[in-house]
Amino acid sequence: MTDFGSESIISLERPRSVTLRFLAEPIDVNFGGKVHGGAVMKWIDQAAYTCAAGWTGAYCVTAYLGGLHFLNPIRVGDLVELRASVIRTGRTSLDVAVDVYAGDPRERTRQRTGHCVMVFVAMSPEGVPIPVPKWTPVTDLDKALEAYSRRFAEHRKQLDAAMDEELALLTSAKHAT
Ligand SMILES: CC(C)(COP(=O)(O)OP(=O)(O)OC[C@H]1O[C@@H](n2cnc3c(N)ncnc32)[C@H](O)[C@@H]1OP(=O)(O)O)[C@@H](O)C(=O)NCCC(=O)NCCS
Repeated sequence: MTDFGSESIISLERPRSVTLRFLAEPIDVNFGGKVHGGAVMKWIDQAAYTCAAGWTGAYCVTAYLGGLHFLNPIRVGDLVELRASVIRTGRTSLDVAVDVYAGDPRERTRQRTGHCVMVFVAMSPEGVPIPVPKWTPVTDLDKALEAYSRRFAEHRKQLDAAMDEELALLTSAKHAT
């Protein structure tokens, strides 16, 4: 067999980030001729899962997806690049930020087309949440991302609590009439 200078087994450090790259195919098209939002969401999920599973070394389930922005359309034939990075770890959960880039493979520029944050929970084979390896931010950017992630979670909880309270009031008012 031809040896291209490749090693048969490569060992990796615990990867904090992963990048997936592929071409957007005609099956990914929507009625407007651009890539379907649902296809982009699937790719985001795959990149984020790969990142979470690689960091934790465990099967992870998605607990939350938020802050999803579609910034620019992706065309069929574009080279799509998804960059996923751990930006916070909790006890059994971790937050993964995903950025999507796309562009003509013949050109040297890629445009940022979307981003979001996903929360994963590491699971034991029995389906119980298990502790995740701690990630410690080092650079100023890492620290800013972790702080953003914590603030984002706090806002989410406050918003959910306020909505629950409002719904409870509406329900009790309905029963009182
Ligand atoms: C995610 C799931 C395992 C959490 O179960 P749970 O009983 O709430 O577990 P816990 O209360 O022990 O919480 C576990 C962790 O998840 C986090 N979590 C749970 N629900 C969350 C949510 N909606 N958003 C963000 N984080 C969440 C908790 O904060 C906790 O984090 P920590 O350990 O780092 O502090 C459970 O809700 C589930 O199975 N959901 C369905 C997952 C799924 O089907 N995903 C789609 C396909 S993969």
